Amino acid sequence: MGRKSLCLLISCVLLAYYLYIPLPDKIEVSWKLMLTSVFFRIEMQLEPLLEMLGFKPFLLMDVLEVPPTSDENVTVTDTLFNNVPVRVFVPKQKSSTLRRAVFYIHGGGWAIGSAAWIIYDDLGRQMVEKLDAVVVSTNYRLAPQYHFPTQFEDVYDTLKWFLRKKVLAEYGVDPARICVAGDSAGGNLAAAVNQKILNDPEVKIKIKIQSLIYPALQALDMDLPSYRENAHLPFLPKYLMVMFWSMYFTSDKALEEAMLTNQHNSVESSHLFKFVNWSTLLPERFKKGHVYTHPIHERSDLAKKFSGFLDVRASPLLAEDSMLKGLPLTHILTCQYDVLRDDGLMYLSRLKAAGVQVVHEHVENGFHGFLSFGSPLIDLKVSRRVVNKYLKWLKENL
Ligand SMILES: *[C@@H]1O[C@H](CO)[C@@H](O)[C@H](O)[C@H]1NC(C)=O
Ligand SMILES: *[C@@H]1O[C@H](CO)[C@@H](O)[C@H](O)[C@H]1NC(C)=O
Repeated sequence: MGRKSLCLLISCVLLAYYLYIPLPDKIEVSWKLMLTSVFFRIEMQLEPLLEMLGFKPFLLMDVLEVPPTSDENVTVTDTLFNNVPVRVFVPKQKSSTLRRAVFYIHGGGWAIGSAAWIIYDDLGRQMVEKLDAVVVSTNYRLAPQYHFPTQFEDVYDTLKWFLRKKVLAEYGVDPARICVAGDSAGGNLAAAVNQKILNDPEVKIKIKIQSLIYPALQALDMDLPSYRENAHLPFLPKYLMVMFWSMYFTSDKALEEAMLTNQHNSVESSHLFKFVNWSTLLPERFKKGHVYTHPIHERSDLAKKFSGFLDVRASPLLAEDSMLKGLPLTHILTCQYDVLRDDGLMYLSRLKAAGVQVVHEHVENGFHGFLSFGSPLIDLKVSRRVVNKYLKWLKENL
């Protein structure tokens, strides 16, 4: 074989490797989705090299950012709330009454993502258009430069700043109609700040709704049925979710390695397993074909050294029932093809048991991150349909 044909063969194999997405048949695949998947995989694979060369982490992701651009209907501004950057979307049309507000927390594994990403910018605009709401989208500091609890605290500080009478009045917001929402790691932060704010004596305002879109809610058990079934799907394979979780707490790779094999817990923390026991918390149909084994404690030292993952502010599923009681009306969206599916399902069981009003939407042909693919950038039909339904639900309930 000549050198040319060998090069051609190698190029074809590489191309096929990158274009191949092992998605289940049920999922709608478009060329835009394939290209996004390729981009995402290249970014993740180049990351160690770029890091070694001294570039800022996840540099390539910055191409997704758009500047704050106002139009005839909405004023978009990047500003600071309590020194944390936020992007604020305010409807231009005058209103005779106070408006509802959505406080939004973007996803990205506590490490990537931005309110300036076109997908989040677009969601903010849609919320303004469909709900006539003021939207605050937070830009908390990210891993690996910053670890837990910085992300949590940035979001909490911003929310508290926003909930002050003076600030709400300035934006014309009705204090009785505020939603805290987020997707993925943002859903994690939304669940965590909602728990904390309930018991904060300094906050007099009650959040009306929380909305958790395919949230990550615990880092104790990395061997849930959803992790087993969806370990190799694109956008959020198990290795990546584990990397994000461990990077939330430390840059020490030992935690990541232990988490991958579910060996990162300690004997001392085994009293917490009941809060993440999928054998008791998952509905029957999601347990089918799986045998429960509780996490083992091969590397007990790690749970002591990086105890963040045992903190309820990082793993909201670890909250006692008494902490869940009194949470606002909760909307949880889960996807069948998502390692995080069972986190959402288990929280649903816990909230119901604590008497919280819950609305659940399970998307049978959804995969992790798919809501972001409803924007004009990728425009998947299933995503657009679910986003519209979501906005309608918010309109009726907020
Ligand atoms: C502004 O709102 C009007 C009425 O809903 C709509 O027709 C128009 O397309 C909007 N403009 C932009 C730039 O979105
Ligand atoms: C989890 O639940 C099952 C029963 O559904 C029980 O047998 C097991 O002991 C529980 N494990 C832990 C660690 O709570």
